[in-house]
Amino acid sequence: MKKKSITTNSGCPVNHYEDSQSVGPRGPLLLQDFFLHEKLAQFNRERIPERVVHAKGSGAFGKFVVTHDITQYTRAKLFSKVGNECKMLLRFSTVGGEKGSADTERDPRGFALKFYTEDGNWDCVGNNTPVFFIKDPKKFPDFIHTQKRHPKTNCKSPTMMWDYWSLNPESLHQVMILMSDRGTPYGHRFMNGYGSHTFSLVNANNERVWVKFHFKSDQGIKNFNDAKAEEMKGKDPDFAQRDLVEAIERGEYPRWNMKIQVMNDEQAKAFPWNPFDLTKVWPHSDFPLIDVGYFELNEIPENYFQDIEQSAFAPANLIDGIGFSPDKMLQGRILAYPDAHRYRIGANYEQLPVNRCPFAVKNYHRDGAMRMDGNGGGNPNYYPNSFDDLHEDEAYKGQPYELESNIAGYFDRNENDNDHYSQPKALYEKVMSDRDRENLVSNIVGAMSGISGPKKDEIILRQLCHWFRCSEKLGMGIARGLGVDMNKLMEFMPSHS
Ligand code: NDP
Ligand code: HEM
Repeated sequence: MKKKSITTNSGCPVNHYEDSQSVGPRGPLLLQDFFLHEKLAQFNRERIPERVVHAKGSGAFGKFVVTHDITQYTRAKLFSKVGNECKMLLRFSTVGGEKGSADTERDPRGFALKFYTEDGNWDCVGNNTPVFFIKDPKKFPDFIHTQKRHPKTNCKSPTMMWDYWSLNPESLHQVMILMSDRGTPYGHRFMNGYGSHTFSLVNANNERVWVKFHFKSDQGIKNFNDAKAEEMKGKDPDFAQRDLVEAIERGEYPRWNMKIQVMNDEQAKAFPWNPFDLTKVWPHSDFPLIDVGYFELNEIPENYFQDIEQSAFAPANLIDGIGFSPDKMLQGRILAYPDAHRYRIGANYEQLPVNRCPFAVKNYHRDGAMRMDGNGGGNPNYYPNSFDDLHEDEAYKGQPYELESNIAGYFDRNENDNDHYSQPKALYEKVMSDRDRENLVSNIVGAMSGISGPKKDEIILRQLCHWFRCSEKLGMGIARGLGVDMNKLMEFMPSHS
């Protein structure tokens, strides 16, 4: 192989890559060795801010294939024909830990999808759980603070976590899933993904239905138990990253089946809970899963930083035929993500190859740091104008829809939305196996044992009340495991119901 010269960033061949130019062999150094400065300056700027949440992640490119006709629900071109395919990207992540944290931490897992479609990029930025801890975006920063490090000790604090959860019982459903063995998945391949929010689908006749997206792992579900997850943290903190890369390099392309649940307006009105409440699922018996297609991951990007660290997913990125819903959490996320990307990556983050729509992007946005797409060349940079043929496209016009209320205000603790217990109860009593239930109790006992400090008893008792309201058997199991004095609990309970 013919050797090539190392060069400076400006392309000039370098003849001293490792030794600095100096006065005599022992130094000092000369300012004119600009390549020394280039090297050190480039190094100083290697880091961009890590994601404020979901900092530790792994990702791969793949292919999505439509296998079933859902044109009765959506006019999205991607779904217009069985057999349609598109390139896609999936980034998995943990939530609370930093970029170097262990992959097997007990945490929800991010499941962020980007479909490069001819209608534009569609991002479905979900988790491996169908629900979430809170139902109003205004709570998000407070909630996340409890999952990060304590402001004084700089350590993770079970006291903060359980204090917050016990004061926000709407978290119970998600906390139960988190505390089950699904809170420590065996890497990224053996877990499901969920769009989690309710979205809408609009068909060619402008008819709208509500929809939830599910991505079922073809590999099946496999989890670590608490002890094994703990052990793996020390043995291989990058277990999930390594597992994904090695599986794809072996040609074992992991696959997920995309399914949807669909609800019409009448069903939404009759639904016993708010269908736009992110702490609730739609039971499968009433809203069966409908097959749509599958995707498989078949390519680990050549460069992690370029394509995964700089990838930017946004719930705002929907395409024609897939729309928002009134879900307050979804609404809150619409502006939050592009804002985070502008801060983390820069104003032109959507021009990076991983984020760029491979089909034409045409508008009048111009300039800004690191513009690299030709910047519109000499074309007009204003609208309307007499020179180009860009226009607002009538074909993409959506149907206006009626809102349920015309009263604007703060509707805190939405009336009729305070049933925090029946769905976790169903999960515990009807869905989980005996082994799941045993592990759930021991995982909760292990996690709650970390609560400490002057408010320890109060926090434990308050959270126990929630477990009891969900299921007496569950509450008893946890109380016993924690060695709680039942008389104290009895005294505490009435004042906290
Ligand atoms: P179903 O029995 O029809 O569905 C139960 C679902 O629970 C399945 O999707 C299954 O996923 C999932 N599941 C199994 N074990 C666990 C676990 N340890 N943690 C989390 N999920 C698990 O019942 P319903 O649809 O009536 O729902 C009952 C309860 O199941 C809900 O209250 C909710 O807690 C949970 N659930 C429901 C989902 C839904 O969309 N309806 C989705 C996920 C959970 P899998 O197929 O992968 O085994
Ligand atoms: C990442 C905010 C709720 C899933 C992020 C990031 C922010 C954020 C700022 C970092 C983005 C970046 O720097 O690239 C919020 C806010 C929420 C919220 C304000 C509530 C209002 C949720 C929910 C889910 C979710 C409910 C899942 C159902 C994710 C995922 C990522 C992420 C998967 C990582 C995306 C990636 O891989 O790059 N969130 N989030 N978030 N969030 Fe949220």
